[in-house]
Amino acid sequence: MTTTSPRFGRVRRAVSLLTTAGLVATAAVALAGPAQAGTTLGQSAAERGRYYGTAIAAGRMNDSTYMGIVDREFDMITAENEMKMDATEPNRNQFTFTNGDRIVNYALSKGKRVRGHTLGWHAQQPGWMQSMSGQPLRDAFLNHVTQVASHYKGKIYAWDVVNEAFADDGRGSRRDSNLQRTGNDWIEAAFRAARAADPGAKLCYNDYNTDGINAKSTGIYTMVRDFKSRGVPIDCVGFQSHLGTSMPSDYQANLQRFADLGVDVQITELDIQQGSNQANAYRQVTEACLAVSRCTGITVWGVRDTDSWRGGANPLLFDGSGNKKAAYTSVLNALNAGNNNGGGSGSVDTNAWYVLVNRNSSKALDVYNLSTADGADIVQWSRNNGNQQQWQFVSSGNGSYRVKSRLSSKVLDVYAKSTADGGEVVQWSDNNGGNQQWNVSITNGYASLVNRNSGKALEVQGASVADGGNVVQYSNWNGANQQWQLVKVG
Ligand code: XIL
Repeated sequence: MTTTSPRFGRVRRAVSLLTTAGLVATAAVALAGPAQAGTTLGQSAAERGRYYGTAIAAGRMNDSTYMGIVDREFDMITAENEMKMDATEPNRNQFTFTNGDRIVNYALSKGKRVRGHTLGWHAQQPGWMQSMSGQPLRDAFLNHVTQVASHYKGKIYAWDVVNEAFADDGRGSRRDSNLQRTGNDWIEAAFRAARAADPGAKLCYNDYNTDGINAKSTGIYTMVRDFKSRGVPIDCVGFQSHLGTSMPSDYQANLQRFADLGVDVQITELDIQQGSNQANAYRQVTEACLAVSRCTGITVWGVRDTDSWRGGANPLLFDGSGNKKAAYTSVLNALNAGNNNGGGSGSVDTNAWYVLVNRNSSKALDVYNLSTADGADIVQWSRNNGNQQQWQFVSSGNGSYRVKSRLSSKVLDVYAKSTADGGEVVQWSDNNGGNQQWNVSITNGYASLVNRNSGKALEVQGASVADGGNVVQYSNWNGANQQWQLVKVG
């Protein structure tokens, strides 16, 4: 026995283990709850911890066929043009939010979420901004970011803070623009201003022709890695995915390499040219997102083919009359066939303190007996929000986190790097070892923590509901005793 707690001797552990094994055999089906099939895109995506969204135009909101589809199918909304710089600040320091508000308020009133698009871009700038440069432009631009993000504070799921700032030159360079010429740090300055204005919104970088591993996506990858290493606030990367007739074969691998940097990934403006491969390519994009646990959702850029900005390409899921196309059926089937590992871990706030409440027992993850020693046992206890029940997620920079106690500053540790079912979880001084790193994925509000060294999940042993119930690692079967609600307390 490895822990300092006298209560957990070998005999008791062996008994508990048998209980856990029995539970797996008999109760897995009842507790695990595989994702249900959905009859709409939004509903099916939500079953898998994702969203399915569309861009809409304020000018079409009186079209009942159009709005009928939006109401029914989509649970995430992007304003196609109404929140861009020319729309929101047509004259310097004179902000117009009428159309943006109309879209945002519609979405929120229907229980849908909103992607904000976009705070910074070389295109669709108001005339006054196009003719500016240097420090005055920098100031005016950052003021724009602050004002618009502040106006929508609390209403936006994710902002495209900067859009299309990389060139198509085959070298992964920044795109030349008036904003770029204010200094290479204009992007990070925008992210910092956006975070200060709306700390609750996820902050994304968004671009096109980045849908496979190529010079442009690698340029962005290098920037995101740099931002993460220097603490520039970035939470997600958007892949527009305005595609021709096919999807790049390394599409999923590209999403995954970004996710591995510790950001969410989102498909933000999907449309695929009509042709014999259209339904198949839509299926492939859907499957790629579902295969990447930090791919939090997909947005298509418009509703019907006749609403598309790509006139003639017929690149969307509904025809001009609002009928479902083969591409629609292909997406819905792919969603319904998908796993429910999703939702990403982007909602973990590394500045916050959380109580981790077990879904099965409603007890909190707790350092036993207020210990501050290496090796002290981790148990569950009735929630009291004490420091011994408060935990912070510390990023390891690779998409996983250490989980640090507020009381002891020690981190959750699988004792002696065990890879076995029932391996003891203790606290230990932080050495960033693989046995101290956890992949956090949140589905429908519940987090699972999978140890990076062992691949096993953090669980309450034997699905105990008692104070002092032991916390161990065990094969991940998505049991309620392996799911934790993250309750922010500080
Ligand atoms: C497009 C809109 O769909 C059009 O209505 C508008 O005329 C131009 O912009 N990348 C983006 C989107 O980030 O904002 C663009 O939207 C399409 C390309």
